Amino acid sequence: MSQQPAIQVLRPTFEQHHDGFGIQFSRPRISWRFSCTDEDVHDWEQCAYDIEIRNTDSNIIQCVHIESQDSVLVPWPEGCASLKSRDRRQVRVRCYGTSTVGSHTVDIAITEWSEWSYVEAALLDKRDWQAKLITPANKISLNDDGSARPLCFRKCFKLPDGEKIARARLYITGHGVYQAYINGEGVGDQCMAPGWQSYDKRQHYQVFDVASALEASEENVIGVEVGPGWYASALSWAQRRFTYGDELGTLAQLEVTSQDGTKTTICSDNTWKSFTSAITSSEIYAGEVFDQNIGRDLNGWNTFTAFNDHSWSAVKTSPRPTATLISPNSAPVRITQRIMPAKIFKSPSGKTLIDFGQNLVGRLHIRRLRKSTGKVIFRHAEVLEHGELCTRPLRGAKATDTIICNGDVLEDWTPKFTFHGFRYVEVTGWSSTDKIEPLTPRSLFAEVMHSDMQQTGWFSCSNEDVNKLHENARWGMRGNFLSVPTDCPQRDERMGWTGDLNIFTPSANFLYDTAGVVGNWLEDLYADQMDESEFWKKGVVPFVVPNCIRKHEADDPFWNPTPNAVWADVAVMTPCELHQTFGDIEVLKRQYESMKAYLQDGISYGEDGLWDEQQWQFGDWLDPSAPTNDSGRGRTDGTYVADAFLLHVTNLMSFISSTLDRPAESKIYSTTHQKLQKAFAHKYLTAHGLIAPDTPTALSLALHFSLIPTTTQRRHAAARLARHLLLNPYKIPTGFAGTPSLLQALTHTGNIDLAYALLLEKECPSFLYPITMGATTIWERWDSMLPDGSVNPGSMTSFNHYALGSVVAWLYSSVGGISVLEPGWKSFLVRPAVPRHGELNNAEVVFEGRYGRVEVRWMLLDTSVEGKVEKNRRVSSEFADVEVQTFRLVVLVPPNSRAKVVLPDRQKAMYLEEGEEKEEAGVWVGSGRHVFDCLLAKGGRPPRPMLPPWGEDPY
Ligand code: BGC
Repeated sequence: MSQQPAIQVLRPTFEQHHDGFGIQFSRPRISWRFSCTDEDVHDWEQCAYDIEIRNTDSNIIQCVHIESQDSVLVPWPEGCASLKSRDRRQVRVRCYGTSTVGSHTVDIAITEWSEWSYVEAALLDKRDWQAKLITPANKISLNDDGSARPLCFRKCFKLPDGEKIARARLYITGHGVYQAYINGEGVGDQCMAPGWQSYDKRQHYQVFDVASALEASEENVIGVEVGPGWYASALSWAQRRFTYGDELGTLAQLEVTSQDGTKTTICSDNTWKSFTSAITSSEIYAGEVFDQNIGRDLNGWNTFTAFNDHSWSAVKTSPRPTATLISPNSAPVRITQRIMPAKIFKSPSGKTLIDFGQNLVGRLHIRRLRKSTGKVIFRHAEVLEHGELCTRPLRGAKATDTIICNGDVLEDWTPKFTFHGFRYVEVTGWSSTDKIEPLTPRSLFAEVMHSDMQQTGWFSCSNEDVNKLHENARWGMRGNFLSVPTDCPQRDERMGWTGDLNIFTPSANFLYDTAGVVGNWLEDLYADQMDESEFWKKGVVPFVVPNCIRKHEADDPFWNPTPNAVWADVAVMTPCELHQTFGDIEVLKRQYESMKAYLQDGISYGEDGLWDEQQWQFGDWLDPSAPTNDSGRGRTDGTYVADAFLLHVTNLMSFISSTLDRPAESKIYSTTHQKLQKAFAHKYLTAHGLIAPDTPTALSLALHFSLIPTTTQRRHAAARLARHLLLNPYKIPTGFAGTPSLLQALTHTGNIDLAYALLLEKECPSFLYPITMGATTIWERWDSMLPDGSVNPGSMTSFNHYALGSVVAWLYSSVGGISVLEPGWKSFLVRPAVPRHGELNNAEVVFEGRYGRVEVRWMLLDTSVEGKVEKNRRVSSEFADVEVQTFRLVVLVPPNSRAKVVLPDRQKAMYLEEGEEKEEAGVWVGSGRHVFDCLLAKGGRPPRPMLPPWGEDPY
């Protein structure tokens, strides 16, 4: 068989796991991507593959040949033994496929082998756990403010004499967040482990390879430091502590195999000891206090030599955790970047301030500090107001780290169990005039912390402000994907608000590989949705997941899960988005009962089958015209918004059921959808195409979710939408719910230029206004900072919320022009919406899909197709008397996938067409690089604002 070296099979991956080490699967599905190194090779399609699985212990290799075109999530080969707990295998793949080279069809040829990947099973059976969760024998110590004092746990042990270590694994978790040490060395590079989950139902543990830290034949020490983390810190605006329990602890199992096969297992049990840490307090919102005096006493606590633990206390074992222990797919939280201070300066009142030049999420890293006595205090905030640190938007979050100094040199210090959302830091007790160790820009830096997902999306275009908008959304995503997808990272919330993620998922899925983090979060959603209580009905989707704001008592200041659209619709919309992006049907299977329960019990229905109007809704949250402290009272009635989403998710359910091969259920949902369409039309729609809430959000949702039955009505609705935007020229008129649909609705109703006019507007409220104000992340409100530089007086004002970054999905799908057709990007659409008035001259998107790298670049050229400068009139009779320009499109399609390309001169206003009319003349292309040109008429008249005869008000 001939070779096809131009097609490379990239290293296989397993399930949606971030690296294959410590997976909770016995027969992990395998995927591989491709790349192609030869521009002449096209249309490569896989027809078969070989998988080799090597047992590195026995050196037995199994090779399996499978006739299949699948390369995403293929089953663990039949005939290959399932992985048992701790089993490790190497896996590699090569593929057979056909292609065309130049103009020749190449018969089946074989690729090189991919590189080997490792896969290792975690502890797959509950009975593998011999360790017990330990907590102090006496009640944990509390600080004056009621917070739990962080703890250290420690155990000395000796490994067998005379034998080298062949393998060592630490399986570990905590009640609280923990950092483990072996012989003084920090284990792994994760932060805030085990992350945040619905700990009462699903608890994550981590797996570390610790062989290199252990000493054979010697005394060793394992130490685990535990802070309250999400388990026990004050959470939510009501700052409730001990949401999951009041005993901080750890569950640790260290398994060591010597080269002669001897196994030693060190388990957390009642032979360990504990002591309060030199971190005297640490909470998520409050920040951390570190006492150097205690640090001196505890020096070397996690090493064997020179440390005496006689004064340490006993521990007791606990029957918890009762939750299922899981080694998650999701990427762990890590430090992914360092940022040096942009400047250190004095505020008008004389405070020392550091500006990092970027609003980020993470922590400070102090390189070196030496101060004889007193405290050094770091307060964090996102913005300045009147030149001073502005902490009001943080509400109850103190976001303050403190070092109590004792004259010793402190090197490479960071707070351990907290994080802050900040661009600015105010420093007290340390300044540039200090004699011993003055504060300089080299004394410290910021560490950027988030779930370390793989970046998959890149966007750029000829407008730098738009590029900045994209970059700000990416920063917003980084900061708000910290173990769970959150609303914001700075104030007394930082919770998994369901609506925010629902709105942002399509954008998130372009930017980063969210399959692990969001897939895992959805499992928590289902688990918490199934909670039962006297206060709410099972099946209702909580507002936040993990649900840390549920009521425990009737007079708690917390929120019961209450039916609420858009937020709760995440239960259907987000799994569907994940399935489309990552091609993993398991997410639909896993979440199906959650979706059904939501539609059955999580909605308060009115008599007509739409939402009960008595039910309060967040609606089009943060519509710019909503009152500052009443963000749900925008111009579009909340029930209307809820109904539009209900129709959409009911339709999705019909699609999902049929995807899952449940035709009867699919039928029921499609019948319900038809009934709802009628009820919706009856309630809201005029025969002409006007809609009862006559607002841009109402019209955009109706067009985008296909809620308007006839072409004529849709034309009128589209015209009405355009009219709104021309009457209040180009200002954003939508909140969380309407924004993702607004530009889509314009683009697909033939108002591309208007969509660009909105994109490029700079006056408030607009996408680019924050950029004119120096924003480096996406703000919660369109005007979190007012034009005069003051901070919005609203009690809810964050400078880092991803929800309004939902425009990113439009940048990729309409400006760049790529969107998924078959799940996993097996096939995709290339259909850039090109502006005609020079708004942009080019755009470029790159997306790492499940088959490989998708690239699309387009540019408008003043040259003709042949390359002659023809600045120009006349090219064909079609363009007689119009100025034309050449549109050039370069598309890279990854091997084993296809794309449908629709050039701008063939595009239709899709939302306006019906049936066959909707079909656009596109070209299907296989893998490889493709170049297309077409001529486009320049311009016509750009959209003109509808102003009164006197123009702008002169006064
Ligand atoms: C959060 C939001 C959330 C909203 C709903 C806010 O406090 O920050 O983003 O969706 O509450 O009420």
